[in-house]
Amino acid sequence: MIPAERIDQLRQKIRRHEELYYMHAAPEISDAEFDALMNELKALEASHPDLLTPDSPTQRVGGRPAEGFVTVEHAQPMLSLDNAYNEDDLRAFDERVRKGLAIAASPSYVAELKIDGLSIALTYDRGQLVRGATRGDGTRGEDVTRNVRTVRAVPLSLEHGPQARVEIRGEVYLSKKAFERMNQEQEAAGEPLFANPRNTAAGAMRNLDPALVAKRGLSAWMYQVVIPEGGPEGPPLHAAMLQDLKAWGMAVEPHWRHCDGIDAVIDFCNEWRDKRGALAFETDGVVIKLNDLAQRERLGTTSKFPRWATAFKFPAERKMAMLHRIEVNIGRTGAATPFARLEPTVVAGSTISMATLHNPDDIIRKDIRPGELVIIEKAGDVIPRVVGPVNTDPDRPLARWVMPTHCPVCNRPLHKPDDEAVWRCENSSCPSKLRRGLEHFASRGAMNIEGMGESLVAQLTESGLVKSLADVYHLTAEALAGLERMGKKSAAKVMSEIDKSRGNEVWRLLYGLGIRHVGERGAQVLADHFGSVAEVQAASRDQLQQVREIGPVLAEAVRTWFDEPRNRDLIERLQAAGLTTVGERKVAPAGPQPLLGKTYVITGEVPGMTREEAQQKLQALGAKVTSSVSKKTTGLIVGAEPGASKLEKATALGIPTLDEEGFVALIMNPS
Ligand code: IVH
Repeated sequence: MIPAERIDQLRQKIRRHEELYYMHAAPEISDAEFDALMNELKALEASHPDLLTPDSPTQRVGGRPAEGFVTVEHAQPMLSLDNAYNEDDLRAFDERVRKGLAIAASPSYVAELKIDGLSIALTYDRGQLVRGATRGDGTRGEDVTRNVRTVRAVPLSLEHGPQARVEIRGEVYLSKKAFERMNQEQEAAGEPLFANPRNTAAGAMRNLDPALVAKRGLSAWMYQVVIPEGGPEGPPLHAAMLQDLKAWGMAVEPHWRHCDGIDAVIDFCNEWRDKRGALAFETDGVVIKLNDLAQRERLGTTSKFPRWATAFKFPAERKMAMLHRIEVNIGRTGAATPFARLEPTVVAGSTISMATLHNPDDIIRKDIRPGELVIIEKAGDVIPRVVGPVNTDPDRPLARWVMPTHCPVCNRPLHKPDDEAVWRCENSSCPSKLRRGLEHFASRGAMNIEGMGESLVAQLTESGLVKSLADVYHLTAEALAGLERMGKKSAAKVMSEIDKSRGNEVWRLLYGLGIRHVGERGAQVLADHFGSVAEVQAASRDQLQQVREIGPVLAEAVRTWFDEPRNRDLIERLQAAGLTTVGERKVAPAGPQPLLGKTYVITGEVPGMTREEAQQKLQALGAKVTSSVSKKTTGLIVGAEPGASKLEKATALGIPTLDEEGFVALIMNPS
């Protein structure tokens, strides 16, 4: 078979298996077989670059991380929904609809599961995915195209879809499994757990590194087509539109139902309130929409919500469970957080044996006592929490809980600053801090040292082989092989992983150090701005704060961390061990911002630089860069092969255009 044919065959196979896996949850081949197909395709494309196309399944992960997100305008505002919490609210909604339409009988609705994720707007032009944007403030969102392309449930091209430009809206979400996996990683790293799949999906989608986003295992369900003004007619009914979407190859959540009247809607809500635990993804309610689009038109919208739809929110699921003990976990920053150890109990489809208890004051205020039955809740299917005791009699014969005065690990006194709710172990060599700190350092999101999970970290810290993060780089294969459950082969594998991590990007190290408040994104922003660990270390509080996205709390935390002599020592030792501490400075240092308040749009290639570089230059001078021309645009920068529509719009709105010379003059001499 000639390569072009094999490539075509592989692409078709991969697309089919992606669809089976992500849209129908019915895989026919194993992950390894899938990877083998993908690897063969990658190899063939690498040796025949002329045959590479942007919609090839290998092109889901764009190469280099983007430098930030440009904001883009939505074709129509993305509204949110009014809420209904019970049957009465639903009937009141139906009454408003009937009144608005001047009809006696309850109309036809479509009820869909409300997916607990992040709303997304995908733009397809001539059948190709050209843009993915977050909801943002409803009018403008962030352009996350590169990340959206990594979501396997989002087709890169529509097989039988329209050729005209259309916007398809829906929800990007994390399956229950993927959400649990991310939280296990958070826990292993001593990081606070994500509260719900929505925040987690949003966090993943806003990551600057598409390769990392791809690993999160995000998925998507789509539920709406928006045709821009002047586009072709869509179907007159929502139900028909959902069927169209599916026929185009989009993932449509299959449990939606056409409901004739509000009684059928109420049945649907009650049914799924009880059944939702069995779904592979989290749902926090039901979205009820008028089926007839002409009726929707007549009702219109308020400034915030459409009058033709509402969201029914499921009540939180509650259960009783025996609270065995209240234990205290010491995180890597020393924060002492109590948590509940429970008799394993099934709530909303998952078995719960631990639950959060908020802070010590809360436990005392609610008078929760170990050894008694408590009520636990999964609200909106988030991490379970203890609501309170079943028996609230203050004279019940059980000892009240008191916050331990000493660290359960190193036995030093715990402290609580007056203005904080959190107790901390301030012993800088508390073994728990080192252990959690090392788990975080080695975790996938940070230095990504495969094999250095919870159990190896426990052995390394308990045996005294690792007393500081830098000791990791002085481990030997012999020392590792001497540990339990560690053969020669696995020891060699871990050693090679450690060695590989020396070459990691600077942001991974900055994140791995475990500086308070410095998350993945904060570390990326710091690395992009300063370029090296030494520059971050040398930056004053003011200089830190001048960096876009770095606020006073983060600046203060970074300064405090680097001011500590033992941390400076650690950096020196890591540097001496050959870790990469100098990278590429991707953002010019903040200087005066003469273009503050101005907004530019770039179309076409600006000679001599990438579009991102041109964008950064403008942003460094304080300007905003957006991707579509509106009344608010200050100027349109026109490079080689500009897009016709942007030029036309700018001309129509009387917005000045700048050619290459004009652009260079602007950045050299902004005023
Ligand atoms: S329709 C104007 N359908 O819920 C109608 N939204 O609280 C727009 N959501 O921002 C939304 N599942 O992100 C719709 N099946 C579904 C949904 C859904 C989840 C989200 C969406 C929206 C929010 C409103």
